[in-house]
Amino acid sequence: MDIIVRENYEEMSEYAAGVIGRFVRNKPYCVLGLATGSTPIGTYRRLIKMHREGLDFSKVVAFNLDEYIGVGINLDVPYEVDQSYARFMHEELFSHINVKKENIHIPDGLTKDPTGFCSWYEEEIKRAGGIDLQLVGIGGDGHWGFNEPGSSLASRTSIQALSPQTLSDNYESFYKKAGVERDKMPHFAITMGIGTILDSKNILMIASGVNKADVVAKCIEGPVTSQITSSAIQLYAGGVTVALDKAAASKLQNLQHYIHIERLKEEYGMG
Ligand code: GLP
Repeated sequence: MDIIVRENYEEMSEYAAGVIGRFVRNKPYCVLGLATGSTPIGTYRRLIKMHREGLDFSKVVAFNLDEYIGVGINLDVPYEVDQSYARFMHEELFSHINVKKENIHIPDGLTKDPTGFCSWYEEEIKRAGGIDLQLVGIGGDGHWGFNEPGSSLASRTSIQALSPQTLSDNYESFYKKAGVERDKMPHFAITMGIGTILDSKNILMIASGVNKADVVAKCIEGPVTSQITSSAIQLYAGGVTVALDKAAASKLQNLQHYIHIERLKEEYGMG
């Protein structure tokens, strides 16, 4: 696991965008797994800038991690009343880069058949050749996507009930601002499973802020447990990079060791 610590959110975002940008440049036909939340916004802004400077997304296939059930893309509805992840992705990234509409996949929160949709989504990922690079954030309760405490670490794309902590965190970050009443916020979501995420060939996890410090330490250094579903990162066999700002890294017991490894890799040109 490469653990990269940067001074602040901006530098962490710069690093993460650099990883994704290089990936797309080296493999234009790549399959990217993308994430929502406030953390990736800085990374997406930089990717948009890179696109304006020539980075081509026209051959990229994208799969998003998750979507609330009961909301979905409908561009006729103003953003303030549509808190779908589909709209978030459209506003924060897709409408600013040249990824083809037909190459974008986001779980359909408005589907009449969520279970059937989940199987179809898994098949679509396989048909695309699997995810080359999956970007993930980390929820306050340690989730990836919406894989809440107690979800199997082998889970596939499925319907999940949101935990009380996720409901509260995501209400504060997104729904409250939009004036949505607390009990009107969706309580269920479709999410790629932990098993689906672990099938990706590379994973890039990002986290920022002191509020994430405890959960980041549990994820990276705590026991592997379905109570912190992102702790499955410790079982992952592919290439994994964790980009953190100093605040999010502040509770890592072996922080000095990770910083030392990064320096050594730079020194020996292994970065
Ligand atoms: C949501 C998403 C996760 C994301 C998490 C953290 O719950 N389903 O994919 O990692 O929010 O969000 P933030 O980056 O706003 O802390």
